[in-house]
Amino acid sequence: MLTASLPPELEQALAEATRGRSSARASADLTRRYRDPSPTAGPVARSPDDVRAYAAARLPATYAAVWIALDELRARVPSFHPKSLLDLGAGPATAAWAAAETWPTLEHVTAVEPEAEMRRLGADLARSVPSRAVAEAEWLAQTLPEAIPSARYDLVTLSYVLAEIGARDRGATVERAWGAAADALVVVEPGTPAGYERVLEARARLIELGATIVAPCPHDRACPLAGTGDWCHFAVRLARTRAHREAKEAQLGHEDEKFSYVVAARAPAPQAAARILRHPQIRRGHVLLEICAPDGARAQTVSKREGDRYRHARKVSWGDDLGE
Ligand SMILES: C[S@@+](CC[C@H](N)C(=O)[O-])C[C@H]1O[C@@H](n2cnc3c(N)ncnc32)[C@H](O)[C@@H]1O
Repeated sequence: MLTASLPPELEQALAEATRGRSSARASADLTRRYRDPSPTAGPVARSPDDVRAYAAARLPATYAAVWIALDELRARVPSFHPKSLLDLGAGPATAAWAAAETWPTLEHVTAVEPEAEMRRLGADLARSVPSRAVAEAEWLAQTLPEAIPSARYDLVTLSYVLAEIGARDRGATVERAWGAAADALVVVEPGTPAGYERVLEARARLIELGATIVAPCPHDRACPLAGTGDWCHFAVRLARTRAHREAKEAQLGHEDEKFSYVVAARAPAPQAAARILRHPQIRRGHVLLEICAPDGARAQTVSKREGDRYRHARKVSWGDDLGE
């Protein structure tokens, strides 16, 4: 299983920002609205209670998912050391925290966020952030897609935002976000069929615009899962703090966030040899894998007779690159 943890400074800042004020009911209500968003789109969390519930119940999970996507970019393009980030639909700048953790080289952050309460939370959390770029982020209180600046940024993120943008504006948002990306654009959505569809739509448009796909796909061709009823998504496990457990009235000490994502770049990068699409099934003498490979998505059995390949297959997780 992919795993992630919050930086201790963010964990602490979140505990302070939500202490004694967020209720499990507000968190459950907000989670329900994220699962079943209004067809008219627009920001889901606006009121102080909603935003506190977001901080307590959703931000740790969105941080973990965007961190995994950024970490794929870091691992696949080790020469990439972004100095500037444009975080679109930034919320409290979750993706900026994750980017600063991934690349301490980050020097400038521009965060576009129309909701005042989200910007306020972002400013509260930023008092604890070790990254100067995040602490001194420039906030634009504006709306996508119009607000996307004409300047270029090394990295652009759209983390859990497309769901809140009406279908009519989504294409323009992705196009203009790509236009603002000097090197790379990262799109992350919930790992639901609808989130996957939005990622798929963004991926197709980015390829038309000349982008190369860095992750998760092992190719730039059409997604072999499209139209099959299956959907490409992954899961990341993160530990729950006490505040996090209380906010969700949850017993488990961890939660698993399902997400879909695409990382696009201007320069070609080495892609995965084969992406693992499900939890591997370890059986006696063999491992059953579901993979996406350059020639399509399929099941693969790795038998004990295959020696090193088998030992490797026993260790890989859903979301990993199986390798050669
Ligand atoms: C689910 S939150 C995600 C926040 C953050 N990116 C994260 O990953 O935690 C979606 C954010 O998009 C913002 N948003 C919604 N519609 C927007 C629009 N048209 N333009 C800019 N931001 C928007 C919301 O206010 C909210 O902060």
